Amino acid sequence: MRVAVVGGGISGVAIEAALGAHGCSVTRLSRSSGFDVLADDAVDRLASVRPQVIVEATGRFTTSRRRATDFFTRSTAVVGAAAERSGARHVLLSILNCTRSEVQGYGYFAGKTAQEQAAGAAGRGTTIVRSAQWFEFAAQNLERLRVGPIAFVPRMTIAPVSLAAVATVVAEVATGRRTAPVVEVAGPETTSLWAMTTALPHPGVVPVPMPIPGRTGRAFRDGALLPAGDVEVVGPRFHEWLAARDR
Ligand SMILES: NC(=O)c1ccc[n+]([C@@H]2O[C@H](COP(=O)([O-])OP(=O)(O)OC[C@H]3O[C@@H](n4cnc5c(N)ncnc54)[C@H](OP(=O)(O)O)[C@@H]3O)[C@@H](O)[C@H]2O)c1
Repeated sequence: MRVAVVGGGISGVAIEAALGAHGCSVTRLSRSSGFDVLADDAVDRLASVRPQVIVEATGRFTTSRRRATDFFTRSTAVVGAAAERSGARHVLLSILNCTRSEVQGYGYFAGKTAQEQAAGAAGRGTTIVRSAQWFEFAAQNLERLRVGPIAFVPRMTIAPVSLAAVATVVAEVATGRRTAPVVEVAGPETTSLWAMTTALPHPGVVPVPMPIPGRTGRAFRDGALLPAGDVEVVGPRFHEWLAARDR
């Protein structure tokens, strides 16, 4: 099966590996390989790979609702149009609970919500895989919210999950082993972003806890990102993942 993975970040790499393990022929496309999903020729370029499935794992970190909405909806419009042109299925990687009303004050989640709506509105039968925050998210956050030697760590209660386990689920969706239109996954335990961050080696960075004010901050602290009872639990616990990584 020919699969195009759009997005060159850690998720694109992990999904490519998981698809490879299922025997797929994978083309990974992102700016680092000369493909810009926002460029005028993006639909043509993506369709020219003749994919049977397109996995969309693009991202641009911003807390601006406007910038996040612009990026994610344009990315999804291009992937959707290329999927339609090539007769491919579209699998969108999203975030567990990002569409809940109490977290829309966080611009990035408002952008992801608009992206999911754009994917659904196209009526193309896009499959959405919503994942809880990955174990790797703690390190990503240290990079993204770093100011000189300090990195801010928002107070968040989460059920983090191994990216490798999520990538396996995405590969199962892409290859038709899973057929539900929305797949939701989380990790096996509840913890905080702060606990994960301080358990990681972080040489040269001083993490500083950052309570987010207002309704969204309260929701982040009080469990709005935690999985409901019917969300599938996949992968190891954080400390098991950390120990395996360090071996
Ligand atoms: N991090 C988490 O814990 C988590 C959890 C659940 C879901 N997600 C979702 O999963 C998706 C991927 O997350 P991530 O953390 O891997 O994202 P990321 O690191 O912010 O970005 C993914 C990749 O998108 C590519 N990209 C950005 N702009 C592009 C453009 N104009 N054209 C083509 N490619 C572009 C980049 O590769 P190049 O630099 O090579 O272009 C980047 O490495 C996001 O939608 C995110 O919301 C993340």
